Amino acid sequence: MQSNISLASQIGDYKFDNLLLNAAGIRCATTEELDKILDSDAGGCVTKSATPEPRKGNESPRMKATSMGCINSMGLPNHGLDYYLKFAEANQGKNGKQVILSIAGLSIDQNIEMLKKIQASSFAGLTELNLSCPNIAGKSQVGYDFEAVRDVLTSAFSFFKKPLGLKLPPYFDFNQFDGIAEVLNDFPVTYINVINSIGNGLVVDPETESVVIKPKGGFGGLGGDYVKPTALANVRALRQRLRPEISIIGTGGIKSGKDVFEHVLCGANLVQIGTAFGFDGTPIFERISKELTAIMEKKGYKTLDEFRGKLKTIE
Ligand code: DHB
Repeated sequence: MQSNISLASQIGDYKFDNLLLNAAGIRCATTEELDKILDSDAGGCVTKSATPEPRKGNESPRMKATSMGCINSMGLPNHGLDYYLKFAEANQGKNGKQVILSIAGLSIDQNIEMLKKIQASSFAGLTELNLSCPNIAGKSQVGYDFEAVRDVLTSAFSFFKKPLGLKLPPYFDFNQFDGIAEVLNDFPVTYINVINSIGNGLVVDPETESVVIKPKGGFGGLGGDYVKPTALANVRALRQRLRPEISIIGTGGIKSGKDVFEHVLCGANLVQIGTAFGFDGTPIFERISKELTAIMEKKGYKTLDEFRGKLKTIE
């Protein structure tokens, strides 16, 4: 097949043969699931966001598929940092694929504690600090509090010398795009990943006259078709504002090669697939790779660099 077309990309010094990855949280909580992703056409894998200790998460039902995507309030069920760090140490770089280690502490102290452990470990890959989990009752998303983001990055970079990415919540206002970019540009962040789910949506079932998930009175994070325009806006707006050395992973609403093409046009270096990966499993990486390759062939592009960030505006 169109073998002269490359889907290779790069984040900092880390090379990926394929720009497609899973998004943290979906089918990536166990080593079996992570192995499956590494055995697929994906360019690497991202672990379920870890907390310092294992957690069971929120009560079920805590995820519901809809015709446009899904709503979830998982509450960070995970096996704890040691489990994912061990997997990341053992698998990073295997078969040329990267393991991205995602962490999501419930406080700044927990994040610092985990970063210290990662700094002291043999893991030399990318760590993704999740500042945007919307599903813990009583905890707001750090990514919306720019002073708190500055505080955690100041503490983190005082000792953390490995490459660090940040998973951010969706922003909706130009003041927010400007505000978060101003903070991030002051730190040696390797990449940002936008967007996490759109937090605290509400899906209503008119038949039962009820919410569809149990935690937090039915409020939960939205993914899928609901979020793609917001994701594209965040990739685009932050690409226009961040130092060029800070790479961008585009996440949100990707279920076809066309969606990936749009994210790259907005400036994404890599992309992650969440909701649609949940629906389709690992075959999605081969399908979307083929779809993107076909689009590139038709347009005469051989590499992602030829169109990355080149979205046109209307004069
Ligand atoms: C969960 C959801 C998120 O969007 C996230 O970033 C981290 C954790 C969860 O509910 O498990």
